[in-house]
Amino acid sequence: MKKKIIALLMTTVTCLSLAACSGSSSGADSESAPAEETTDEAAESGSAKLIMATNAEFPPYEYHDNDQIVGIDAEIAEALAKEIGAEVEIEDIAFDSIIPEVTSGKADFGMAGMTVTEDRKKSVNFTDTYASAKQVIIVTEDSDIASPDDLEGKVVGVQTGTTGDIYISDELGDDAVERYAKGMEAVQALSQNKIDAVVIDNEPAKVYVSENEGLKILDTAYAEEEYAIAVALDNTELLDKLNAALKTLKDNGTIDEIVGKYIKTE
Ligand code: ARG
Repeated sequence: MKKKIIALLMTTVTCLSLAACSGSSSGADSESAPAEETTDEAAESGSAKLIMATNAEFPPYEYHDNDQIVGIDAEIAEALAKEIGAEVEIEDIAFDSIIPEVTSGKADFGMAGMTVTEDRKKSVNFTDTYASAKQVIIVTEDSDIASPDDLEGKVVGVQTGTTGDIYISDELGDDAVERYAKGMEAVQALSQNKIDAVVIDNEPAKVYVSENEGLKILDTAYAEEEYAIAVALDNTELLDKLNAALKTLKDNGTIDEIVGKYIKTE
């Protein structure tokens, strides 16, 4: 009997993954098959499963470590799920597919170092914020770009659909933007002098600059932002549960502890 239940649950998991799979078709090459973070324990305990849509190309928030998706968001999601008696299954898709995946109900929530914006709030609800961030400018060490004002007339690389993409296209026009499926690809293009700058979140920027020679981050940030978790507008039940769990994890130091594991403050 127990075997049967497990088998049944496994089928459900597979279907969900397939559904998620066919749903992510934005053409970005980061849309590899959804990573299954499911443990057998989940199937056996029969606890509720929450599908988290992310884009695991964003260290230290979410990235691949061998066949695992790790990072601040992955660990906070795990801790949140534990609080509300659920299991998380991480689905790795293109960044600009995350909100559609949530609004269509294929994913229960989106967590991807995602900035709260007024525009996104029209499609999803955001939980309380769990991190502050900045959009920063990466340039080559010998660049003549020294502040955001110097971006005028330059070609700026961004990850498709991110706030960096939105700000630069709005302020400098579409022609000024070079879009990449992954932030790392934008940084590599900068290293090869194919573009003049990259606008991206500060923490991934630090990681990328440390991994590519001859680059630096400008002191003046492009914008200040807050990260939160996106939930479907009609799923206020999950929104409330996540907010209550977030509060617990903030109050008991779990969030700080997780962040401290990945971000070392000098
Ligand atoms: N914070 C930015 C935004 O919300 C970039 C997030 C990119 N996240 C990712 N996992 N690739 O648009």
